[in-house]
Amino acid sequence: MKITEIAIKDLNKADYNPRKIGKAEMDALKRSIERYGLIDPIIVNKDYTIIGGHQRTEAARQLGFKEVPCVILDLDKDSEKELNIALNKIGGKFNDLVLADLLEELKAKGRLAYTGFKDKELARLTWKKGLKDKNKLIASFVIPPFSIFDSKQGYWQNRKKEWVGFLEATGGEGRGENLISGGMGNLGAMAGGLTGTSVFDPVLCEAMYAWYCPEGGLIVDPFAGGVTRGAVASILDRNYIGADVSKIQIETNEALLKNIGETKATYHNVSGEEIYKKLPSQADLLFTCPPYYDLEIYDKENDKDISNAPSYQAFLEKYTQILHSSYNHIKEGGYAIITVGNIRNDKGEMLNLVGDTITIMTAAGYTFYNECILATAIGTAPVRASAHFSKNKKVIKTHQNVLFFAKGKEIAINPKLANIILNGATATAHHDVLVFKK
Ligand SMILES: C[S@@+](CC[C@H](N)C(=O)[O-])C[C@H]1O[C@@H](n2cnc3c(N)ncnc32)[C@H](O)[C@@H]1O
Repeated sequence: MKITEIAIKDLNKADYNPRKIGKAEMDALKRSIERYGLIDPIIVNKDYTIIGGHQRTEAARQLGFKEVPCVILDLDKDSEKELNIALNKIGGKFNDLVLADLLEELKAKGRLAYTGFKDKELARLTWKKGLKDKNKLIASFVIPPFSIFDSKQGYWQNRKKEWVGFLEATGGEGRGENLISGGMGNLGAMAGGLTGTSVFDPVLCEAMYAWYCPEGGLIVDPFAGGVTRGAVASILDRNYIGADVSKIQIETNEALLKNIGETKATYHNVSGEEIYKKLPSQADLLFTCPPYYDLEIYDKENDKDISNAPSYQAFLEKYTQILHSSYNHIKEGGYAIITVGNIRNDKGEMLNLVGDTITIMTAAGYTFYNECILATAIGTAPVRASAHFSKNKKVIKTHQNVLFFAKGKEIAINPKLANIILNGATATAHHDVLVFKK
């Protein structure tokens, strides 16, 4: 192949060139060219239109090169465009685990800056590698498969800290004073701030995805809320599609995902029953946390927001419609997991949202499969308990329910999940104590 030195000023950029480059990448490219020279020639057509190497030519120009090495082809314009795309599109993919090892080795020798990878990208790869090793060790359980999920335990809290730390380390760069600059810390504050709710627990997400959705699988979430379920899915290499009627929540989630560099979660500003149409195939898992009727009202102005329903009955009708629409869009052998809790009405009576959710899901065709209690942080409960309880004999709620449903008469074990013993069922470690008043 003949290589000809051509003056940069004589080369023409293709005005249709679909590739672009950010400042950070351009700086990395310049560092590499400074270190090794321009060792990869530019591909140009006979009229000197650049076909491959726009960014390299620009980097060389910024570094003060007057000429660049070129390979000259003789192509018609359509072939030129075709090759422009093919040069960028056709290529292999990194094996993230092997890449992480290689980058760590180079980083230890102070050479990471010349690979084009940033510290935060390496942190992400290393985390993923650690996750895989850890998952192998604990056979993907993450938390014990008992019917009480005790989020107050040390192993849970430590894991949660790891998630928050990781998201802060990988999400913190690039947006300056912007509100979404702080990874999971801000991410939590934002998501919580918007909906007035606490952040969904990333450890619960990690366990549920490890247990019930294979890598590369698809999760659907008709009440997305904050970004946690989507972000954790994407980091764990699961695809996630979520709906929320709150536009600002969707925009915030999208910005946060972009900031942490995750692309496998997508959000749609539609009502829950419409999300199933957006799925590319049937989902492996439905994972959601609906409004607990009017416990928190998300958007008073939006009549699609079911937390605004005029009565519990009206809420249940819309809730039923959203859950029932899911059935045909979940794979045979797939699962649905709903985190939900009972609430009280204006008279202080308990509304049976947990029981109603089970009735709705079984009426849709699902099999009721596991029932777990998520024991949540006690917070200020001990301080409030005595006055509260002596006044009205009502206990302070420190749990939510996690309800599991399966689709299909024969509950098939997905072979990709075969390392989950107990056939996906959790061991019972609790009894319910129900109190009624006459
Ligand atoms: C309980 S929240 C989720 C809270 C949870 N702590 C979290 O952030 O993941 C439920 C979400 O459902 C949304 N929502 C209400 N009605 C909806 C509907 N018809 N379709 C989809 N989402 C809806 C609300 O905007 C809210 O963000």
